[in-house]
Amino acid sequence: DKTIVVTGACSGIGAETVRVLRARGARVIGLDRSDPMLTLDGFVKADLSEQAAIDHAMKQLPAQVDALANVAGVPGTAPAELLGRVNYLSLRHLSERVAERMSAGASIVNVSSILGHFYMQRLDQHKALADTRSFEAGLAWLARNPVSQATCYEFFKEALIVWTMRRGHALFLEQGIRMNAVAPGPVFTPILGEFATQLGEARVQADASRVKRPSFADEVAPAIAFLCSDDARAIVGANLPVDGGFEASYL
Ligand code: NAI
Repeated sequence: DKTIVVTGACSGIGAETVRVLRARGARVIGLDRSDPMLTLDGFVKADLSEQAAIDHAMKQLPAQVDALANVAGVPGTAPAELLGRVNYLSLRHLSERVAERMSAGASIVNVSSILGHFYMQRLDQHKALADTRSFEAGLAWLARNPVSQATCYEFFKEALIVWTMRRGHALFLEQGIRMNAVAPGPVFTPILGEFATQLGEARVQADASRVKRPSFADEVAPAIAFLCSDDARAIVGANLPVDGGFEASYL
């Protein structure tokens, strides 16, 4: 049985991911800044916006990890600096630290977003940021190249996709670890806030085959579980849309 660490385990997509992975027999350790309301095999309370908090959390995480699902995230209404830390820099740092406890065949899955779709438009910037590698160097790069509040959510999801490909390729060559991303469209979870009402949850429930429809967390979690599993052993550096047809509709 696999030992899997899930961040953002206390709500939304993360909580569903915990449920699916446990139902399939994994031992799941949750990591979140909130208190868990669900059954877990272990839990570490940590604020993923600080490098020191991640380093501290590492002391409580298992010595051997088979998969890491990076699901924690804050919405675009969060201040740009916090968003950069939680949705990108901390995720990178945690992944690098957990990778030290992984063997060949292990898997890392990052939750990106449909909003990262246009990463090619700023590819050079995202590659340069990806290559900073350390938390500190990433912060220094961002101080030199500030990201506006208006675009920060998209920017860091784009950056996450590029890092997943670039670093994922290297991690696979160096250690046989597979790193991939899942890119949801809108998903009905607390992160949407009032936006959920505009999307029409009731209407989606009534018309589940509508293309471009928003999703529910239990429709995204199985894709994360799949990429964590050995069934995905030939998938490396991919960004898998799980978006009810949103991305396809861009063509
Ligand atoms: P959510 O708000 O239900 O859950 C996010 C979880 O992350 C919460 O449990 C929260 O406590 C945790 N978290 C936030 N900041 C943290 C920090 N500093 N330290 C530790 N834990 C922290 O949101 P949801 O929808 O489940 O989001 C999960 C991921 O999916 C995020 O990365 C989000 O950007 C992404 N996503 C969500 C979409 C949506 O429409 N819901 C669409 C596309 C991507």
